[in-house]
Amino acid sequence: MKIHYFFLFLLTDFNYMNNKINIAVFISGAGSNARNIIEYFKDNERVEVALILSNKKDSGALKISQDTGVPFYIFDREAFYQTDKIKEILLDHHVQSIILAGFLWLVPDYLLKLFPNRIINIHPSLLPKYGGKGMYGMKVHEAVKSSGDKWSGITIHLVNEEYDKGQILLQEKVAIDENDSPENIANKIHQLEYTYFPSTIENYLLSHFK
Ligand code: GAR
Repeated sequence: MKIHYFFLFLLTDFNYMNNKINIAVFISGAGSNARNIIEYFKDNERVEVALILSNKKDSGALKISQDTGVPFYIFDREAFYQTDKIKEILLDHHVQSIILAGFLWLVPDYLLKLFPNRIINIHPSLLPKYGGKGMYGMKVHEAVKSSGDKWSGITIHLVNEEYDKGQILLQEKVAIDENDSPENIANKIHQLEYTYFPSTIENYLLSHFK
């Protein structure tokens, strides 16, 4: 056991000397944000996307991995909640921070403890509006459309033990036209996400890994 920890320390230290912060991106869907994040950090000297993980076989993870060379890993509910498998994979890849980019399962306690204030989520609304369990993707945009709200937006926040409740790092809003369909709203939100998510991740990590 002691040797194991010593080995981990050496790897972490080596990574530090390399000056790179390794991140893992979790997705459940198409993964367009994950792709955008990988592209953004491609030649970055401080941040590297080490791994993409998904709980869905038919997510974009495989194709993104083929296109970008970032390794991917698919897992099921049992592996995520009942085993150490995900923890081992993250440690094997020297991951220091997790990014949830359209990932829909609640993050278990062991990951919150392993990455305290190091897990960042993006939510496609202006939290606390349209957040919580079951509010994700198009469901959010449909709710915004039915409400008649004049604004929607994105929230980038730290992850805690409750859905969409962690400390907010950034919110950006966009005007909703009465003619916008939920699909139009989704497109507007995705544009905001592509613009702000990678740089918010970078700013947060660089100011917390000195
Ligand atoms: C994004 O809009 C993200 O904000 C949302 O899922 C979409 C994923 O799109 N996340 C949530 O709803 C989390 N509650 P992508 O797979 O194309 O990046």
